[in-house]
Amino acid sequence: MLLDSTLREGEQTPGVVFSEEWRVRIAKALSDMGVHMIEVGDPNVAPDIRRAIAKIIGMKGNGEIASEVVVHSRMVKADIENAASLGPDRIAVFYGVSDIHLAHKHRKSREEALAIVAEHVEFARSLGVKVRFTAEDATRADPNYLVEVVKTAHEAGADRVSIADTVGVLDPFRARDLFRLVKSSVGGLGLDVHAHNDLGMAVANSLAAVDGGADVVHVTVNGLGERTGITPLQAFAVAYYYHRGVRLVRLEELPRITALVENASGITVMPTFPVVGENAFTHKAGVHQAGVLANPATYEPLPPEVVGRERDFSLDKYSGRRAIQHRLERLGIPLGPDELEAVVGEVKSLNVRRLRDEDLLEIVERVTGRALRARVNRHIESYIWIRVADNVYTTSVARRVGAIRGVVEVSEITGEYDIVARASVDTAEELNRVIEEIRGVKGVVSTLTNIVLKELPAQDASWHNQYKRLPPAHH
Ligand code: COA
Ligand code: ZN
Repeated sequence: MLLDSTLREGEQTPGVVFSEEWRVRIAKALSDMGVHMIEVGDPNVAPDIRRAIAKIIGMKGNGEIASEVVVHSRMVKADIENAASLGPDRIAVFYGVSDIHLAHKHRKSREEALAIVAEHVEFARSLGVKVRFTAEDATRADPNYLVEVVKTAHEAGADRVSIADTVGVLDPFRARDLFRLVKSSVGGLGLDVHAHNDLGMAVANSLAAVDGGADVVHVTVNGLGERTGITPLQAFAVAYYYHRGVRLVRLEELPRITALVENASGITVMPTFPVVGENAFTHKAGVHQAGVLANPATYEPLPPEVVGRERDFSLDKYSGRRAIQHRLERLGIPLGPDELEAVVGEVKSLNVRRLRDEDLLEIVERVTGRALRARVNRHIESYIWIRVADNVYTTSVARRVGAIRGVVEVSEITGEYDIVARASVDTAEELNRVIEEIRGVKGVVSTLTNIVLKELPAQDASWHNQYKRLPPAHH
């Protein structure tokens, strides 16, 4: 199962604050995509956070949100009371358990800490909510002491314990061993892994922790969080799907939640970010592109559609013939072998970072002398569809429409409308005048106007001309 902490850990990203409205939107989106638990924040931090948490808990109450709603709190009774008063599904209380945290942050002995943990877990339980205990900095604690704290929290009423790799120093082998140790020492307890990414191993450590017995993995959208953040939702969900064949959430919604949190946080993911980074399904080198065109599996771990993405090819001097030919075919421009060779040669001589379709078309025009690019109209071209009353001759209406200044072509047509007029004018005012004049023609019931955005030259005019020159068929 996944616990998303974008609203708690994610807001601990320097520079990030979520408005009340964004908090609610993010919670709803996470719930909609199937995230099992949402850590929505600590209501003691600020009044607007408390208000948003209350709103989210209300949405859980009326069924708009399905995920378990978890609020965070220090082991301070007033804080816990305030959190419990909002009626969440669960309170997560945390306490540092490494000697560094005990000595320098809490200024407590190991024994004193055990008593504090027991007292506050019991207190939270007495308020009628489920309790998770988070062993902060657990991965730098003496493992035997960690087991003791976990047992204490469990006996005091916590049905889940989160083992936090607070400064991101686990490696996957130690992660698996540590979770095995805790799991085998304390029965009947849910185990969360909360992995920070300081050394870039959060996803691997989370996967290994699951191997060792964790059944909930803490993630944030886009990997937000203190310093280098924690396990990114996207990477973990897809790694888990790849390795275990299980979809923990609706994977095709990953791009949407990515964009939502990018907007809300003001932090964009880098292009090389797993799964949702701009480049995640874009192929560049000619050899890769040729491989992917033959079979996408050659250079893709999984089809992009699985995670709501599309395959793309980036063109520049690293491209080969196959990639360029493919792109041109997609643009409806098949080239002969010599032309293609010339275009590839031209592409290789340019130090362009990334060729856009427009750039490629320009090269083809230059190399082959064809005219391919859309002509941008300097004046306004439009089609005006006209419906004519039943009791009026369409042809006489068409003739009158054809006499209006600005109308360049008129046809009688079948279908919902009776006449289509093509108008070509210089300004919007003139177009309005044409439409008004058409509406003024006796017998016109209604009109619909479409403005032409761009015109493409017919690509095979030569073929068309040849066809017209064929001798008539003999019957
Ligand atoms: N349980 C109980 N007390 C804890 C604690 C815990 N798990 N972790 C830290 N503390 C104590 C510290 O020892 C320190 O106490 P001290 O002042 O006696 O040294 C205090 O909490 C933190 O210092 P400070 O932030 O100055 O306290 P504060 O009372 O002004 O504010 C918060 C407390 C929680 C409201 C404020 O720090 C805040 O808004 N924090 C944001 C949320 C946060 O820090 N979350 C961490 C999640 S891992
Ligand atoms: Zn954390």
